[in-house]
Amino acid sequence: MKSLVVANWKMYPKTALDAKRLFDAARRCVDPHKNVSLVVAPPALFLQNLTKGYRGKISFAAQSARAEDEGAFTGSHSLIQLREARCAHALVGHAERRAAGETDAETAQQVARALALDMTPILCVGERARSADGSHFAVVRDQLRTALIGMKPGAVKKLIIAYEPVWAIGAPAPMAPRDMHEMSIFIRKSLVTLLGEGAMEVRILYGGAVDETNVAAMMHDGDVHGLLVGRASVDAIRFAKLIHTLGDL
Ligand code: PGA
Repeated sequence: MKSLVVANWKMYPKTALDAKRLFDAARRCVDPHKNVSLVVAPPALFLQNLTKGYRGKISFAAQSARAEDEGAFTGSHSLIQLREARCAHALVGHAERRAAGETDAETAQQVARALALDMTPILCVGERARSADGSHFAVVRDQLRTALIGMKPGAVKKLIIAYEPVWAIGAPAPMAPRDMHEMSIFIRKSLVTLLGEGAMEVRILYGGAVDETNVAAMMHDGDVHGLLVGRASVDAIRFAKLIHTLGDL
């Protein structure tokens, strides 16, 4: 199966030119690798400049979007606007959005609206901290349950889950691949309970301090279909190494 990389550029590129350079570098490194799919989530402001005339294999994602199609939401974008800007995917419930006040109810609305618009929601879940009693599993299960409430089992083909332990985002190192393996099994079981057997096919990604040095171990031992990459996706040289390493696996 293809590995999926989601490059979450956050607010890192300072100018449209920075974003364009980063995109061109990403395009050059991913094009030769048939077994790697790439989704780029740029700052929304730069989407038009990046997508104009582009017909290649990279897809685009919204970093954050509201479920409402219109309204008095100063500074926000709607999923429908981002779909028009050629986002086929949308990150939903990223830890940095949750920390900024986005609620479980909003996350659920965004998943439902993305699916209704035929977009692929990349639902981000993950605990803030780990505890010896294993309560982080319950945190993840509850995030899945609240975000996927009311979802039709037939929609699972579109869904992607990104497990990102909050303590690993922006940290020096990712979680151990063996621990991710355990979490993948748990997430899949939880999804099957919620959505039925079809959920066995849902792609599960890992995110949090992924870079060119740890990507191979996570893909080998983490039981994941791909990776959500922040910092290492906005350094063209490191990102090229990461993609080539994945492509050569
Ligand atoms: P990081 O961010 O790779 O910089 O740790 C990951 C994320 O927030 O998606």
